[in-house]
Amino acid sequence: MTSIISINGLGKSYAGGMRALDDVSLEIEKGEILALLGPNGAGKTTLISAICGLITPTEGTISVGGHDTIRSFRAARNLIGLVPQEITIEPFETVLNTVRLSRGLFGKPRNEAYLEQVLKDLSLWDKKDTPCMALSGGMKRRVLIAKALSHEPQVLFLDEPTAGVDVSLRRDMWEMVGRLRESGVTIILTTHYIEEAEEMADRIGVINKGKLLLVEDKDKLMTQLGRKQLILSLQSPVKDIPEALSEYKLQRGKTDDVLQYDYDARSERTGITRLVADMAAAGLSVRDVESRQSSLEDVFLTLVEEGQP
Ligand SMILES: Nc1ncnc2c1ncn2[C@@H]1O[C@H](COP(=O)(O)OP(=O)(O)O)[C@@H](O)[C@H]1O
Ligand SMILES: [Mg+2]
Repeated sequence: MTSIISINGLGKSYAGGMRALDDVSLEIEKGEILALLGPNGAGKTTLISAICGLITPTEGTISVGGHDTIRSFRAARNLIGLVPQEITIEPFETVLNTVRLSRGLFGKPRNEAYLEQVLKDLSLWDKKDTPCMALSGGMKRRVLIAKALSHEPQVLFLDEPTAGVDVSLRRDMWEMVGRLRESGVTIILTTHYIEEAEEMADRIGVINKGKLLLVEDKDKLMTQLGRKQLILSLQSPVKDIPEALSEYKLQRGKTDDVLQYDYDARSERTGITRLVADMAAAGLSVRDVESRQSSLEDVFLTLVEEGQP
């Protein structure tokens, strides 16, 4: 795999001292979809702004397609399409003119056939002569994407593409992102919707308080999530977990009368039957059992609360 974006030791402190990014290093592979998942204020937009050369890092370096984002700003920026979090379009301009102008700003020669294709892919072609202000919120978001694609970028940033967008439009957006990826575009999206990261991404990065806490293959994360937990409530509190049960690596629950057992839900033998029998033999009688599946949401919440995996 070749990386298209390299980020090394990136830090950003805003005037006033806000530490928005701290020692972020990340390689983004050509052609992947990377989702940056984090709560509000985590530093997602700051990270994107730094990669796009819109803000100056306090420490560290970033290169896009081998071009340093500060020293070779133009060359780096030309490879990037950015769909910002806030809607920013010229209200009186028509859809087609909006994308034409944007392409022109990047100094690209006219290519009406390409722009037609972009608008068609985004189901905007029949609105090409409509002034942007007459479009619905969802359509305006599509125009932003068309604008970002107007200069044929190799990398597309989508900053919270579906925040405040209704469910059906969100689905459309996901499909469209999938099609874009097939055309070879590298896509980085930020979101605070776990479902969105789960649905679309090849890799998921979790960011909180300016720190990149984890970057992992989605499938790997999902495999880890195949683990389930059995919550065993006992008839009476237990002081020490009997030695005879050590192979099960039981953990203590919230109270003295609760034990937890981790197992792989997808394996043929979960060990549950044997565990319950061995517990009875060791003198622990089980009052109630409950099983719990950890989800990406649990992983995310644990990371965000504790700051480490
Ligand atoms: N221009 C700025 N000046 C000062 N602080 C800022 C500025 N932009 C963002 N911040 C602060 O930096 C932190 C990260 O913000 P941001 O990158 O927008 O987070 P996210 O996009 O994950 O919600 C927040 O605490 C935010 O208030
Ligand atoms: Mg943001």
